[in-house]
Amino acid sequence: MNNLVVVNHPLAQHLLTQLRDKQTPPAVFRSLTRKLTTILLIEATRDLPTDSVSVETPLERTQGAVLAAKLVVVPILRAGLGMLEPVVDLFPDVAVGYIGMERDHTTAIANSYYLKLPPVEGRTVLLIDPMLATGGSVDQALAAIRSRGAGRMIVICIVAAPEGVERITQHHPDVPIYTAALDRELNPAKYILPGIGDFGDRLYGTLTSPDASATIGAPLND
Ligand code: PRP
Ligand code: URA
Repeated sequence: MNNLVVVNHPLAQHLLTQLRDKQTPPAVFRSLTRKLTTILLIEATRDLPTDSVSVETPLERTQGAVLAAKLVVVPILRAGLGMLEPVVDLFPDVAVGYIGMERDHTTAIANSYYLKLPPVEGRTVLLIDPMLATGGSVDQALAAIRSRGAGRMIVICIVAAPEGVERITQHHPDVPIYTAALDRELNPAKYILPGIGDFGDRLYGTLTSPDASATIGAPLND
């Protein structure tokens, strides 16, 4: 799993543990998601190119650096939206595209229902989606972005499963994945274990049962 970077920063792990806690309410969950995304984002953009510029401080002229290229960020709807705000805060010039993907509840296969991308040709594209489970959503999203001529693509997720990492490594070996955790496995319903639960439902307060394990533990109909 060469293209996987697990960000082990103590603060990242502290925030992740609170996200995992099933008692965490949606408002806190959203705030934790933004904070943890900021840490992952800093790591994921470590290699961005810069241009050297001259700048006048109040005391003297010195050399500085500015980001050389405009970034593109693409959240996968809906849960990826919870990670968008820190990206536009830290990179105010970023262009934002959207990909709507939804896993079928009986097969866990993701289908695309929306696609709106800015020009990505030659650009660095950050694809953000909190959960990399089977990898189906990210795989399809990367293929769509690649087909439009993107330069470099980087995936940022909160938690990854080995199955998803394996799939992205095979289909997109050039794409690094930044995550706060590589979890153990998928359950029969294709949820990540130990995981966080249904991220979109926890983010937006749309859980149908207060006991999330009751709704996400059922095996799929193959
Ligand atoms: C979740 C999650 C990812 C996807 C991961 O989205 O936000 O997009 O599942 O699973 P995969 O790696 O097996 O494709 P979901 O389809 O539940 O939609 P939502 O974000 O609208 O809740
Ligand atoms: N989608 C989620 O929201 N959670 C999982 O564990 C897997 C897919």
